[in-house]
Amino acid sequence: MSIVFDKDLETGNELIDGQHKELIDRVNRLVESCTSGKEKNVAVQTLDFLMDYTELHFAAEEKLQEEAGYPELEGHKAQHAQFKKAVDELREMLEEEEGPTDAFVAAVNKNISDWLVNHIKQSDKKVAAFVNK
Ligand SMILES: [Fe+2]
Repeated sequence: MSIVFDKDLETGNELIDGQHKELIDRVNRLVESCTSGKEKNVAVQTLDFLMDYTELHFAAEEKLQEEAGYPELEGHKAQHAQFKKAVDELREMLEEEEGPTDAFVAAVNKNISDWLVNHIKQSDKKVAAFVNK
């Protein structure tokens, strides 16, 4: 299921929100590529495309927190690291299969889509509130 960037996902920080839109767009492309054609190379490409932007976005968000002296930076970094690990595992899982299996799609929904929505709502909103004040 694709993610819709609506009011609930807005943090109020222009940089973060702009990057979240792009990130969500890439997550949606991955989900779509897994459920439509089910071609392995397309899924690999969209997953790599997502990983590239994840690196950029997490680095920008962490820099923002460092500059603002955000007290929960270490915990936030740990969450980002956990997500990257989950994505790496998905990348390996896809490599071992002939294409995106149902189990792979279920893991994408749980470890990427759901994780991201929860992370934005719970953690990134706190960051934005701190940085914006
Ligand atoms: Fe974050």
